[in-house]
Amino acid sequence: MTAGAQDPKTPVVAIDGPVGSGKGTIARRVATSLGWHLLDSGALYRLVALASVKRGVAETEEEDLAALASDLSVEFETDQSGDERIFLDGEDVTSDIRSEECGRVASAVASFSGVRAALLEIQRGFRKKPGLVADGRDMGSTVFPNAFLKVYLTASAEERAKRRHKQLKDKGIDVSLPALSRDIVDRDRRDSERTVAPLRPAADARLLDSSGQSIDEVTQTVLDWVAELEKGN
Ligand code: C5P
Repeated sequence: MTAGAQDPKTPVVAIDGPVGSGKGTIARRVATSLGWHLLDSGALYRLVALASVKRGVAETEEEDLAALASDLSVEFETDQSGDERIFLDGEDVTSDIRSEECGRVASAVASFSGVRAALLEIQRGFRKKPGLVADGRDMGSTVFPNAFLKVYLTASAEERAKRRHKQLKDKGIDVSLPALSRDIVDRDRRDSERTVAPLRPAADARLLDSSGQSIDEVTQTVLDWVAELEKGN
């Protein structure tokens, strides 16, 4: 795991938003363009979820889940074709953690403050020079409150369900669109209503609605904001 002492002066671009808002894709593009590190914080919650299923820990057992989260043995690697591979206890779980079921369990375990606290320092350990682009739900509000730029990315629920459907289909995962829409609405509700670190824009976040915009256009808007802030410093 890339954990370590974080450097509080290293700039962070925090990109938060709901399921299917495109934050993962945009964060990756922005990080590549700037030559900065990337943190996909959702992957960490998904890894806790997968580890809990593998070890038979019920999704209601906060203490056991928190212990599991603080003891996660994970590695992020980039393979020869430039794709990221994620390992849990030495096993390649890159595609396993992307299933809808893993997302659902991730959202359940993410509601426990013990789990969130255990993942906090791991996430902050990704803040390394020359900079970090972090995507998730609470990057700007909780994990990196002094982020250089905070973006809250969203899109209409309909568009998010369609994008997620296409993403899964491209990976060979067959899910019905209505079932996916219901799951997205449920997950949004649970993520927004939980008492710890609920999904909502940080007070100083810039809102970006990506409905009807291309990936390139949204990426460019974020890069323009970075350039504008860099000029002001
Ligand atoms: O972004 P992704 O869909 O991979 O995240 C899976 C789940 O993990 C989310 O539904 C959310 O409940 C949780 N999560 C979170 N805080 C984050 C990232 C993800 O609570 N920073």
